[in-house]
Amino acid sequence: MPPECSDFALADSLDRRLLVSGSERGPLRPAREPGAVGGDGRAHVDLVHVERERRGPRGKRDPVGAAVRVALEVAVVHEHAPQRHVVGLDRRSDVALPGLELGVDLALAVHARAVEHEADALEQDLAVGARAREAPGPVGADAAQALHEFLGADHGVGARMPLMKAAVYYQTGKPEVLRYEDVPDPVCAPNGVVIDVRAIAIEGGDVLNRAGGMMAAKPHIVGYNCAGVIRKVGAQVTDRKAGDRVCALMMHGSHAERAAVPVAATWLVPEGLSFAQAACVPVAWGTAHDCLFEFGRLKAGECVLVQAGGSGVGLACVQLAKRAGAVVYSTIGSKDKLERLKEFGCDHGILYREVDFADAIRELTKGKGVDLVVDAVGGDTLQRSLLCLGYRGRAITVGNVSRGDMKLDPAPLAPGNRSLTGVFFGAEVAFQSARVRAMLDGILRDLARGELRTVVDREFPLREAAAAHAYIESRAAFGRVVLIP
Ligand SMILES: NC(=O)c1ccc[n+]([C@@H]2O[C@H](COP(=O)([O-])OP(=O)(O)OC[C@H]3O[C@@H](n4cnc5c(N)ncnc54)[C@H](OP(=O)(O)O)[C@@H]3O)[C@@H](O)[C@H]2O)c1
Repeated sequence: MPPECSDFALADSLDRRLLVSGSERGPLRPAREPGAVGGDGRAHVDLVHVERERRGPRGKRDPVGAAVRVALEVAVVHEHAPQRHVVGLDRRSDVALPGLELGVDLALAVHARAVEHEADALEQDLAVGARAREAPGPVGADAAQALHEFLGADHGVGARMPLMKAAVYYQTGKPEVLRYEDVPDPVCAPNGVVIDVRAIAIEGGDVLNRAGGMMAAKPHIVGYNCAGVIRKVGAQVTDRKAGDRVCALMMHGSHAERAAVPVAATWLVPEGLSFAQAACVPVAWGTAHDCLFEFGRLKAGECVLVQAGGSGVGLACVQLAKRAGAVVYSTIGSKDKLERLKEFGCDHGILYREVDFADAIRELTKGKGVDLVVDAVGGDTLQRSLLCLGYRGRAITVGNVSRGDMKLDPAPLAPGNRSLTGVFFGAEVAFQSARVRAMLDGILRDLARGELRTVVDREFPLREAAAAHAYIESRAAFGRVVLIP
């Protein structure tokens, strides 16, 4: 019987060395090198059940938190024994982990532990990779990926797995950290779909994440948005089928030839909208709509200032605000961009590199200020956005594309009964999925009819993702930059 394992440390896969800790077994110590356990496939570790729970920065439950707590049940399956031995069923052994993929590191840890104790009976079975891939939910995908990295180079596991190309990174930093590599295909969850990606919109958040955000796996596949054709549907999915054209939203994973997403985060792409256009929709347009209406409560006749009007979110804000009957002011980085922005409904463009935008707003509104500011620039700009608000004005902070210091002095708010609201669209997708679904279906319909427009500034092949990210950081783009796998 394999031993009870009640506590595991994660495998340090970079070091290609497995560390296993057991609370009954004393302190951390190195287990076998993966290469030391050759295999003829007589036993394998099977992921039986995985429970995941998202946690926020202080370890509290948070449905949109970046950390994931994983509790894992695994079985060591002997080829010569009819029954499974469950070795990891210990709900107390869950560990706060920064990424889903570490589930399989735990499985490997269990395996290594079992190998240690029954060296003659259990041997490394490279088929564990295939098993991990069949595990339910995205954990399976990340598990396979982790396994690929852990064993692939030394044991050729990768060659047995279906692979796809992706733009990945092993550490955050400048655009050059992006590499174009083979990674395991994503796994279709019972309530999910796998998409053959035809276009990827690079979001401002993707660039920030690559520069210094959290990585869910090593390598990490960045990316919130894509569009393509459904290749596979999960067993529980009833409202999508293979061949459907969809755009999709995800926490990460869009910079790839294929992406696995929950079906609830997909939208059918109407006729008349290209994949490149559709890929640009969910994050930018959903965020813009919520900033203006759900949280900004914008009404016809009101004045709104949109910061960075040539950005993906900004261009959507300008058009939606104009359509709603607002007077639209917007900051923009160059004269060329300003001319283009006017075509989309900007009434008063402000070249913020040439003039102080807060002074300009006071002048343009004859000292009244605006009713709403949507600010995705952050840093000092956000502080000065507050100075643009009129009586009962509302400011929305929705991003920090400037990567500036987000310290804020709220003093300008109280004298005019003004307010500041933070918006994270991901929380709305999670908590208000029916509302968000209908809202984005409507926007996609209006885009297909030509009543609204997405702007694709430039397309790059996926293999040139680093150049595409660098181009965005040069601030030459107007609208979205799209990758084509
Ligand atoms: N909270 C949410 O749910 C949510 C959702 C979507 C996006 N966001 C955030 O919103 C921000 C914008 O996203 P996006 O996708 O619209 O960005 P984007 O399309 O990549 O736009 C970037 C543009 O911002 C302008 N900009 C103005 N000041 C800047 C500065 N100091 N540094 C760099 N660029 C500056 C630049 O144009 P000019 O040079 O012409 O000014 C630049 O081209 C990001 O921070 C993103 O993370 C948040």
